[in-house]
Amino acid sequence: MEFHRVIRVRRSLRAFSPRPVEKEKIERMLEAARWSPSCANRQPWRFVVVGADAPSRAAVEEALDAGNAWAKRAPVLIAAGARREDGAIVESRDYFLHDTGMALMSLLYRAVAQGMLAHPMAGWKEEPLRAALGLPQDFTPVAVVAVGYAGKSGDLDEATRKKDEKPPARKPLGEVAFRSQWGEPFEATLPSLPAKVYETELQLRFGDTDAMGHVNNAKVVTYLELGRVRFFGDVMGAERVEDIRFILAEVSCRYRIPILLHDRVIVRMHITDVNRSSFRFRYDLYDPRDGRVFVEAETVQVMFDYTAGRPAPVGADFLARARDYIGG
Ligand SMILES: Cc1cc2nc3c(=O)[nH]c(=O)nc-3n(C[C@H](O)[C@H](O)[C@H](O)COP(=O)(O)O)c2cc1C
Repeated sequence: MEFHRVIRVRRSLRAFSPRPVEKEKIERMLEAARWSPSCANRQPWRFVVVGADAPSRAAVEEALDAGNAWAKRAPVLIAAGARREDGAIVESRDYFLHDTGMALMSLLYRAVAQGMLAHPMAGWKEEPLRAALGLPQDFTPVAVVAVGYAGKSGDLDEATRKKDEKPPARKPLGEVAFRSQWGEPFEATLPSLPAKVYETELQLRFGDTDAMGHVNNAKVVTYLELGRVRFFGDVMGAERVEDIRFILAEVSCRYRIPILLHDRVIVRMHITDVNRSSFRFRYDLYDPRDGRVFVEAETVQVMFDYTAGRPAPVGADFLARARDYIGG
């Protein structure tokens, strides 16, 4: 999974599947943490991995706050922390918790890149956790991370499900980042969400399906193509295919559920990551009747000058016409 996508899909969700997590996936997460940067390369972080059948498991679950009872379903719980003396101190600044947080972030992203959920928690009682894991007195535990595959939100109690359904929210960029001086907002120029998304319905044909009765995976890629052609016609005013002056550089698809012949399919798309000569489309193929998303996809296009035979800059005209559809 591409890194920008890992950042986008990472969420602290609470519905875990009982599906066990492969040992090597946990090892890769720990490896990602191990290769994190740390002040003076002191690597103060320490992790205790507690699987579903670990002798300490029941006691760790017991240490969780009632509001984190959902985490008991996660097949793996990882306690993380550090000792002050293992980290660097610069002037009077302690870096042991900072470095542990960075290592935890790598661990979380590696979990997401491997298709898993990883949810950090501060909601646990310290003394019971220390006793459960035999933590040394000078060790500061900072987080317990619930790790596993996503489960069904229907299995959660109502209050917990409501938390998971809340859309993610963030403070505006200018409130957390300053330019030049404290208090002078770093102005956001890129919209975090596009003003509009382009939608067009696709006509499924019997010949699109394979022996399983599903729309063939390769056909889905041609649906994206149709979306692009219509986008260029409707939004960019391209009347002929020769007016579409880009080449396709990359396609990635996440097939979530099969598309069947009786499904209705709308392609919903917008532009993101506009660079000097390339831009990205993000797509969802979904059924308008119930909102089921069949496929999430991304493609990268490179603007191309066919006469010169090389990439060309994304032009001002393109940006002006596509503006409302750029973001995210
Ligand atoms: C150090 C830390 C402690 C957290 N503790 C809890 C917790 O005890 N219970 C919980 O449900 N979520 C906990 N969270 C998750 C946050 O609520 C979540 O990261 C935040 O709401 C942003 O949502 P997102 O991670 O889905 O983007 C914690 C997150 C961090 C980084």
